[in-house]
Amino acid sequence: MTTRKRILTGDRPTGKLHIGHYVGSLRHRLAFQEQYECFFIIADLHMLTTKPSKEAIYEIGENARQIVLDHLAIGIDPAKVTFYLQSAVHEVYEMQLLLSGMVTVERLQQLPSIKDMANAADMDQMPYNLLGYPVLQSADILMPRGHLVPVGKDNEAHVEICRQIARRFNNLYEEVFPLPEPYVEGGTLVGTDGQAKMSKSLGNAILLSDDAKTVRKQVMGMYTDPKRVSADIPGTVEGNPVFAYHDFFNPNKAEVDDLKDRYRAGKVGDVEVKEKLYVALEAFLGPIRERRAHYEAQTGYVDELLYEGTLHAQKEAQETLFAMKKAMGLTGVWNRIRRAAENRQKKMAKAAAVEE
Ligand code: TRP
Repeated sequence: MTTRKRILTGDRPTGKLHIGHYVGSLRHRLAFQEQYECFFIIADLHMLTTKPSKEAIYEIGENARQIVLDHLAIGIDPAKVTFYLQSAVHEVYEMQLLLSGMVTVERLQQLPSIKDMANAADMDQMPYNLLGYPVLQSADILMPRGHLVPVGKDNEAHVEICRQIARRFNNLYEEVFPLPEPYVEGGTLVGTDGQAKMSKSLGNAILLSDDAKTVRKQVMGMYTDPKRVSADIPGTVEGNPVFAYHDFFNPNKAEVDDLKDRYRAGKVGDVEVKEKLYVALEAFLGPIRERRAHYEAQTGYVDELLYEGTLHAQKEAQETLFAMKKAMGLTGVWNRIRRAAENRQKKMAKAAAVEE
């Protein structure tokens, strides 16, 4: 019997993960797996809020596999965590409905994150499920009765809503849920083009699964100080994506400091700075690629992991949903009806037997 506190976090299966995900969330998960019982959700029902097409749904399976591989590749221990597919845990759909009365439409409409997602997906009207995104997320978080929820800044308000929902439920019925704490993950990495957000669809990402040639091409094409048309012009280090990457991925601080000094003085070319970044990134990505290949070589392994994890999640979800319905008195309503009906049917059957 484990007494470790629980974490629930995860991703929508929209594609392979990149080094921005590593900086923003995956590296925190690496640390968390040592102290917490971790549930990592593949949130495909959430993906449907902005990508409901059949084509997008078709891609869920492969994207889910790749996301699990990304986790294993960076060093997540499959023995320590539970990966699961949200859409295969049917209790979560029920939980979401039961929880939906614990929050107001006005409260959800005020969230900038929801409007941002609608805008990003070019939607001019608000679908019901997108408005309810945080309610479904609350069902995810409350399903394993999680204690800590690592999320990006944009999802912090969703955990706040989850706390409110849990508090309302506990007050209205019975104490079923611990109040989950948000853990706002630190660290963001700009795109290779200098845009604030790294994203595969913007073409400014370096994937954890990219090969050396692709990484080299991305690094050599990175946006730097645009004023610097030749190597002898003093350059700006602050806000320069190449140096932001050096700061995070190059463990040789003396080299980075030297490059910065020479860059500011107009004594180093962008090519050299990028070459050294490429070497540092390769030192980071090499072992990740190797671990990925190791797991990928075992046919069916990732699917089995996701399958077993989902069965585990289903069991947890069944227990939680039952506790909710019991606290609400819903199980009692149905049980009385069922018992009365069964009694009558038994009696009728007996009477029919006597008549014969
Ligand atoms: N909202 C998360 C995202 O931006 C995915 C997600 C779904 C999630 N349910 C969650 C994260 C529960 C943390 C906890 O992709």
